[in-house]
Amino acid sequence: MVIAFLLLEFTIDSGDQMAIEKYPIIWGVLAMLLLFAIAVEMIAETLKSILYRGLSEEAQQKYLASEEKRKAQQFSGIKNLYKKLAGGKPIEQEGEIVLDHNYDGIRELDNKLPPWWLYMFYITIVFAGIYLVRYHIFDGNKQAKEFEIEMEEARIAVEEYKKNAKDLVDVNTVELLTEKSDLAAGKQIFETNCIACHKSDGGGGIGPNLTDEYWILGGGIKNVFNTISEGGRDGKGMVSWKTELKPVEMAQVASYVLTFQGTTPAEPKAAEGEIWADPDAVPETPNEEVPETVVDSTSVEVTVSN
Ligand code: HEC
Repeated sequence: MVIAFLLLEFTIDSGDQMAIEKYPIIWGVLAMLLLFAIAVEMIAETLKSILYRGLSEEAQQKYLASEEKRKAQQFSGIKNLYKKLAGGKPIEQEGEIVLDHNYDGIRELDNKLPPWWLYMFYITIVFAGIYLVRYHIFDGNKQAKEFEIEMEEARIAVEEYKKNAKDLVDVNTVELLTEKSDLAAGKQIFETNCIACHKSDGGGGIGPNLTDEYWILGGGIKNVFNTISEGGRDGKGMVSWKTELKPVEMAQVASYVLTFQGTTPAEPKAAEGEIWADPDAVPETPNEEVPETVVDSTSVEVTVSN
C-alpha cells in the first residue's frame, strides 16, 4: 500500500496539491488494495493450514522446528546491531567484571561505557575541534554576519526570480516587449478580444483609434497596460481585462497595441484625446550648458552635537 501510495503521488500530476487531496478516489483505490491484500493473506493462511494437516506426523514436527528457527533469526541483524551499540556483558559473563567490594550483598559491575554513547562523545570532541579552529582561530562569520549574508542571497534570488517570472509584471514594472514571440502572442490576444471595438488594424470603431499619437487615457506602455488592466472611463465600453488576461498577456497585448503607432489604418477614426509625450523620454538634443552647481564658499554648515 505504501508503494502504491508513493507511485500514485509521483506519477499523477496534481499541481502543488497532493494527488490524494485532488483525487479522493485514490482513497478508494487504496481501500480496494487493502481488502485485496487481506483476502490474499487469508487464502495463503488457509492453504498453509490445509497443507500442514496433510503432512505426516514426522514432517509436521520438522516443519514446526524450521518455523521456530526462522522466527529466531528474524531481525537478527537489527538485534545484533542493538547489542553491539548497547555494549555490556551478557549476564552469564558478569562474573568477569564484578568489582571486589561488597556492601551487604550489593556489588558493582565495572561495565564499559556503551559504544553508542562513546561514539557520540567522540563526535562532539571532533565538532569542538573544528568549531574552535573555525571560529576562534580563523575568525569565521558570527551569527549576525551569517544572517546578513543569507538575507542578501535571498534578496538576489528574489530579484532573479522576478526577472524570469514575467507573470509578475504589474503597472510599475511593465516594460515594452519587443520579442517577436511576445508581439505574436499580443496580436493573438488582440484579435481574439479587442478587434470588435478597435478593428484589427487599430483604426477604431466603438473604441478609439490606437494608431495615432492622441490618447484619451495616456500613451506609453505603462498607461496602455493600466488602461487594459483597469478599463477606461465608466460607461465608455472599455472594461477591465485583469480578470480575463494574465499580467504577462496584458503586457504582450499592450506592447502589440503600441506597434500600431504611426501606421495608417483603412478607416481611421478621428483622433480623440491629446498628444501624449513620454515624460521619461530622453530629450534628443540634451542641453549642454547645464550650469554647474555654484558652491557658496562663505556658507559654513554647523553641526551642533550635544
Ligand atoms: C466593448 C468594446 C471594447 C473592447 C472589446 C475593447 N475596448 Fe479598448 N476601448 C474601448 C473604448 C470605448 C475605449 C475608450 C475608453 C474611454 O474613453 O475611457 C477604449 C480604450 C482603449 C485604450 C485606450 C485608448 C486611449 O486613447 O487612451 C486602449 C489602449 C484599449 N482600449 C485597448 C484595448 C485592448 C488591448 C482590448 C482587448 C484586450 C480592448 N481595448 C478591448 C472599447 C473596447
